[in-house]
Amino acid sequence: MKNWSPQSWTTKEIRQQAIYKDEDALNKALNKLSNMPPLVTSWEIYKLKQNLAEVQMGKRFLIQGGDCAESFEDCNSPIISNRIKVLLQMSLVLIHGLKMPIVRIGRFAGQYAKPRSSNDETKDGITLPSYRGDIVNKIGFTAKDREPDPARMLVGHASSAMTLNFVRALIDGGFADIRHPEYWNLAWIEHSGQSTEYQEMMKKISESIGFTEILAGRRLGNLSRVDFYSSHEALHLHYEQALTRKVPRQEGYFNLSTHFPWIGLRTNQLNSAHVELLRGINNPIGIKVGAETTKEHLIGLCRTLNPTNEAGKITLIHRFGAKNIESSLPKMIKILQEEDIGVVWCCDPMHGNTESTSNGFKTRKFQNIRKEVELAMDVHKSEGSILGGVHLELTGENVTECLGGARELCEKDLERAYKTQVDPRLNYEQSLEMAMAIVSKYNS
Ligand code: PEP
Ligand code: CO
Repeated sequence: MKNWSPQSWTTKEIRQQAIYKDEDALNKALNKLSNMPPLVTSWEIYKLKQNLAEVQMGKRFLIQGGDCAESFEDCNSPIISNRIKVLLQMSLVLIHGLKMPIVRIGRFAGQYAKPRSSNDETKDGITLPSYRGDIVNKIGFTAKDREPDPARMLVGHASSAMTLNFVRALIDGGFADIRHPEYWNLAWIEHSGQSTEYQEMMKKISESIGFTEILAGRRLGNLSRVDFYSSHEALHLHYEQALTRKVPRQEGYFNLSTHFPWIGLRTNQLNSAHVELLRGINNPIGIKVGAETTKEHLIGLCRTLNPTNEAGKITLIHRFGAKNIESSLPKMIKILQEEDIGVVWCCDPMHGNTESTSNGFKTRKFQNIRKEVELAMDVHKSEGSILGGVHLELTGENVTECLGGARELCEKDLERAYKTQVDPRLNYEQSLEMAMAIVSKYNS
């Protein structure tokens, strides 16, 4: 890679970074981090890129989902396994309905850094640094909590490792066995509006597997495990640099903190340090784009991050909002078609549909989220393009953060179980409903 090194980002425009007061402590933490074991391997990264190349061709569907911001406190068994359960259930609905294999990428095991609209926050006349995610500082509103602490990067690394370790052990231990989808049931499935439809679908699937196994005269292999990949916004440049490494017997560099790093909307400028750091790695990369992304910017990003137009390398995660997608997405698709640039197109129906309620909650309406995904499917179809997947903020917990859905959550309900530290997430029922909505639109 020409004129690139893991440090070359330091010569570019640096945005959205914490300011560490104690440089010595920062260097000590980074030194330690640079010698810590990686979280993922180059083989897994290449396998995911291959899978994404198939998404690009329309042979697989991508589901990327998880918290807006993970927290260190939520690095525990029920939260991690409930999230896996929801993603497994959603992917079962999608496999069955789309008749396609699914690529599963969690927004987890490292989603600890958040971009903020302002460097500080003022409350009751007191101004403190903004909360930038658990990898930087604490959410509490005291000077001590908000002081960026480099040691938190080590906790972030360890928490990511524990999360991934648990996910891998669950999957390898048979938790994802399609013959036992009951392992994935969450306590409140019986009360869910979608429960009957989901249970019937599971019954049909087990009957078909049973039937095929009788015909084959043997147990079908490969049904007991699935692949799960990790992803996070590659925002914290020092942290990402410390995990950007070479590995034996492979050419070039890999970001070994995650399989799929993405560049957020606030840091995707062509002159940005984030684009520079990610330009030099072999991982597949996500890029958030929106209505403000111009033609030159879009083409520049694709050519800079994927100069050879390699399939599966770039996933453009578009987030327009239900109101704007019809006017913005067709133009974007045409630009890349004219330039012969291939990408995976993925719809993030969350970040363009955020609003505030009269009682002061940041929320999203299920109907707008659903609408944006449906419009994305329509637009890609009419432009001769392929919607490869969806990017969702969701949780396996029974939270009340997004309005609507089958249970028709209203503003008053938000007071009951609003737990997110940053953006509102779909709860378990709303997530499953979304998977079913995708299937019904696809088959309509
Ligand atoms: C996010 O995915 O949480 C996020 C901050 O998104 P965006 O960069 O698209 O605003
Ligand atoms: Co978010």
